[in-house]
Amino acid sequence: MAKENRTATLRIQRFNPDVDDAPYFDTFEVTYGSETTVLDALHQIKTEQDGSLTFRRSCRHGICGSCAANVNGRNILVCKTPLKETLDAERKVIIRPLSYLPIIKDLVVDREAFWDQYLNVKPWLIPPKELPEKEFLVPPDEISTYNHAEMCIMCGICYSACPVVNVEKDFIGPHAMLKAFLRVSDSRDRGKDEHMANMPTLWDCTTCYMCNALCPKELKPGATSPSLRSIWVEEGKVPRTLGVSLTSTYRNNNPFEYPREDRQLWAEGLGLRNAIEEAVDTLYFVCCLSCYDPRAQKAPQAMVKTMRKLGIQLGTLGDEEACCGSETRRIGEAGLFEMIAEERSELLASAQAKRMVTISPHCFDVYKNYYPGLELPVEHYTQFIARLIAEGKLTFKGSLRKRVTYHDPCYLGIQNKVFNEPRTILQSIPGVELIEMEQNRENSMCCGGGGGRMWFEGHGENGHASHARARQALSTGADIIATACPFCLNMLEDAVKTLGLSDKIEVKDIMELVQEAL
Ligand code: FES
Repeated sequence: MAKENRTATLRIQRFNPDVDDAPYFDTFEVTYGSETTVLDALHQIKTEQDGSLTFRRSCRHGICGSCAANVNGRNILVCKTPLKETLDAERKVIIRPLSYLPIIKDLVVDREAFWDQYLNVKPWLIPPKELPEKEFLVPPDEISTYNHAEMCIMCGICYSACPVVNVEKDFIGPHAMLKAFLRVSDSRDRGKDEHMANMPTLWDCTTCYMCNALCPKELKPGATSPSLRSIWVEEGKVPRTLGVSLTSTYRNNNPFEYPREDRQLWAEGLGLRNAIEEAVDTLYFVCCLSCYDPRAQKAPQAMVKTMRKLGIQLGTLGDEEACCGSETRRIGEAGLFEMIAEERSELLASAQAKRMVTISPHCFDVYKNYYPGLELPVEHYTQFIARLIAEGKLTFKGSLRKRVTYHDPCYLGIQNKVFNEPRTILQSIPGVELIEMEQNRENSMCCGGGGGRMWFEGHGENGHASHARARQALSTGADIIATACPFCLNMLEDAVKTLGLSDKIEVKDIMELVQEAL
C-alpha cells in the first residue's frame, strides 16, 4: 500500500546580510511521510521551491553536528528529527538558526566564538615531558568517562542554548568545559594548568543544565562544571565572594554570613513544630535564603499559614536545620559537601515525618539526586500543593483577577522535569489567567542565580540573564511573574527593580498567590 503523504507548513527565518536589513520569515508547504526528517523537508524546499535557502548538512546521520538548528525554540539536529514530531496541531513548525551566534545566511551561523573557546582549553593530550619507554594506555576503569566525553560531535547545540553565552560573550561554554574535563581527568595527561589557564569564566556557569538537557548525544557538559571548579577550590583559587559564601556555609551553616541562631526567626509566632522532638505530617525544609531574607521569608510564612488552615501539621528541624549543600556542591567544594551530606543525612534520619517538602528547588534537587542514602521521600512544595488540590483538600474561596506568567526554575524544571504542578496550581486559582513566556517549560530561560552566581557577579558586560528574563516576562503583558524558587524570586525581583519596571510587573512566589486566594 502506498504511504500517505501529508502537507506541513514550515516558517523559516531568512536573512541574507548582503541584501536584508533584518531577519524575516518565509513560509513553505512541504509534503511529508512518517520517515521524513526536518532536514529532508529543508532539502525539498531547496530543490523544488527556493534554491537560495541556505543551511548546513553533511553526514545526515547525527555524526558531524553540522545541521543543528533551532526548531520551535529548541536546538536539535534536524537530520535526526522526524518532521512529524515537530508539528503543532495545525501541522506548522518554526525553524530558526542557532541562537546567540552571528548569522552568515539563513540557517547558517558563524561558529568562530565557539571554536575559539574550544581551542582555549587546549583540548589535546599533554603528556609528561619525559615520555615513558612504553606507551601507556587509559586504564580500563577510566574508559567509560573518556568515551562519554569523546562522543561530543561539536554541533554547537549546547553553546547556542547557554543562557550565559547570551549575556557574557567571553564565557567558555559547555562544549569547552566538557573537553577540558576530558583532558584533566585523563591520568596520562600532565597539562591540567594549561587546560584550565584560559577559563576564568568557568565561574560564570549557572549550572542550569540546559546543555545537559539538549545534548543530542546525551552527554552532560554542564555536570563537568562542579568537577572542574573543584580543582581550583582544592588549590584555593576561588573568587573572593564565593570563598566567603563557602566559609560561611562551614561556620554558620548558611552561605549568607547570617548567625545560625537567627535561622528560625522567620517562623516566630507561627506555631511550627519541631520534627525531631515530635511526630508531624510533613517535615518542611526551608532554604537558607528563605529563612533569612525578609522578602523571601514571605513564601514559607504563606506555606505555614496555609497548612494551618488545612489542619496539616508541619514541622522543621528547628535549631538544627542547616544548609543542604546544594550550592556548595555546584561551586565545587566537594569535600565540604560530603561532610554536609553526611551530617544532614543523620539528622534527617531522626526526623519524625512521613515526607519532606522543600521550599527551594535547589534543596529539592540535592536531596533527591545527591543524597544517595536518604530514605525520607522528598517533594518540592509545588508537587505537594498540586496534590492537595487534586485530592480536594485545598480549595480556593477567594480569587485573583491577574494575568500571571510562570518562570520555570531550572533546578525544578529542566533538571527534575517538574513542569505541570506549578501551572496546575496557578490555573486552579480562580481569576488567574496563565500566560506563557516565549521560552517556557523544557525551553525555559535561566534567571542566572544558580551554581554560585548568587554570590558572584560574573565577568561579562553584556547584561544579566535575569534582566533578559524579566523583559521576556514583561512582553507577555502579565501583571505578575510567578516562580517557585527563592533564588529566582530574588534574581527576578532585583532585575525588575533595576530595570525600573516595578510599576509594570510584580514578582511573587506561587505560595504567596495560593495564600492570597485561600
Ligand atoms: Fe551531520 Fe546532522 S548532518 S549531524
